Amino acid sequence: MSLIRDDGSLEPSWAQSLFARIIKRGKIPRHVAFIMDGNRRYAAKKQVVKLEGHSKGFDKLAEALKWCQDLGVEEVTVYAFSAENFKRSKDEVDGLMELARQKFERIMSEKEKLEEHGVCIKIVGEMKLLASDIQEIAAKIENVTKLNHKCRLNICLAYTSRLEISAAIREIATGVEQGILLPEDITEDLITKTLEIPTVDLLIRTSGEVRLSDFLLWQSSFSYLSFLKPLWPEFSIWDFYGSVLQYQRAFDKIENAKEYSNINTLEPADGENDVSANYARVDAFLKNLKLERGGINTDILST
Ligand code: FPP
Ligand code: MG
Repeated sequence: MSLIRDDGSLEPSWAQSLFARIIKRGKIPRHVAFIMDGNRRYAAKKQVVKLEGHSKGFDKLAEALKWCQDLGVEEVTVYAFSAENFKRSKDEVDGLMELARQKFERIMSEKEKLEEHGVCIKIVGEMKLLASDIQEIAAKIENVTKLNHKCRLNICLAYTSRLEISAAIREIATGVEQGILLPEDITEDLITKTLEIPTVDLLIRTSGEVRLSDFLLWQSSFSYLSFLKPLWPEFSIWDFYGSVLQYQRAFDKIENAKEYSNINTLEPADGENDVSANYARVDAFLKNLKLERGGINTDILST
């Protein structure tokens, strides 16, 4: 099944449209993340093989992406395969990788559709842990979708948050080593901007598990966390709307908490009078980083 379902099969009912209009009067989360948990329990419940559960999980991702786009969510991040998942049985890992391969090929064959819907896709994780053909197709997808700017989808594959944070710290250390940055330039804000995935507003995990499982730990410091009972393939638009409503109710409280948190600001380096030189170095570092990451312009969403 396609990632972009524009065949009319996902058109909202009148009740869903009405509810969406009500939700749109409130604050819409800019960035929503999903821990798509419960595929194997779903497969067991339906007495089908595990991979069928994961395949239904992909179909649900296509639905969730459409619900997000219809509400005007600009960025969606999904946990498709954690680096920890490599510890699962060889059969399941091979099956999931084959599913990723097939879905990526389908995504590539539908690049015009992605362009039409303005979907930019980024695959984030330890690429070197993936087979070379998957790495190649992932790079192609990123390249052909990098100028699409209505919605960004980050697919986390062979990912853990601690690996992502470690990679960002290494990039910053290299920047210092090369003289682009000084140690004084390292702030929370710089780390946030060096990570591949930006701050999350609403994080949803299905299947009743109440934990983050090493997903977006830095980015979810001030997210609204929504832990829901349904298994991922059973997750419905009403469950999604419920989470967005909860986010809207918590919005003011979260914004207040954010205001008091940002204390780790720039300090002028020795011999410098103000922080303008820090800003210039940080700017140069981030521009360089963007180029090294394939020139994908992360500013496009705010334009
Ligand atoms: C967690 O459920 C789900 C996964 C580890 C895989 C998620 C993958 C997909 C939804 C397919 C996405 C594919 C692409 C290419 C984006 P689980 O296996 O932990 O199930 P359980 O909690 O019931 O054991
Ligand atoms: Mg699970």
